[in-house]
Amino acid sequence: MDALFRRRSIRKYIKDKPIEKEKIEMLLKAGFAAPSARNCQPYNFIVIDDRDVLDKIPTIHPYASMSLSATLAILVMGDNTLQENVDYLLQDCSAATENILIEATQLSLGSVWLGVYPREERIKGIKELLNIPKKFMPISLIVIGYPAEKKEPSNRFDTKKVFYNILNKE
Ligand SMILES: Cc1cc2nc3c(=O)[nH]c(=O)nc-3n(C[C@H](O)[C@H](O)[C@H](O)COP(=O)(O)O)c2cc1C
Repeated sequence: MDALFRRRSIRKYIKDKPIEKEKIEMLLKAGFAAPSARNCQPYNFIVIDDRDVLDKIPTIHPYASMSLSATLAILVMGDNTLQENVDYLLQDCSAATENILIEATQLSLGSVWLGVYPREERIKGIKELLNIPKKFMPISLIVIGYPAEKKEPSNRFDTKKVFYNILNKE
């Protein structure tokens, strides 16, 4: 619960401070621990640590300028031969994405979820940039680095959005 509340979108990073291999492995383990429909585990990951590639991301994604100072990004994509229903593919990859964000917080890393799917131009641009074959659908891009900004833990609990059993008709 602690890491869950502390997870916030961090968009400023200490430039040139690489993420250790062991930490990258932990992030991937977190992604692979996600639940998936029929347990088909369609999530695949591209680890991006090449400066040139990180610098190209904002030319494709309009809200990705933070990747210029990031040292890592993980592209989460779904294998549509393992899960043909794109709605489930999206949910499975989203679960993996959130797991990675939580683990990044636990490892004292800053991270932010960038939506790729369903924006056609982002899907096309990311597929071209990373040379992604047809069977993979890019879902989200997680930009990661050592944080250069601090944010308060979130507190969004809202009783007005919580319902029990059968709702009253209005
Ligand atoms: C599906 C999805 C897409 C998002 N896309 C972007 C994005 O393109 N750029 C960005 O800076 N943040 C993006 N975010 C992060 C949200 O802006 C952020 O989670 C929200 O403002 C709440 O703030 P917090 O993450 O600090 O709790 C996205 C989040 C989700 C779940």
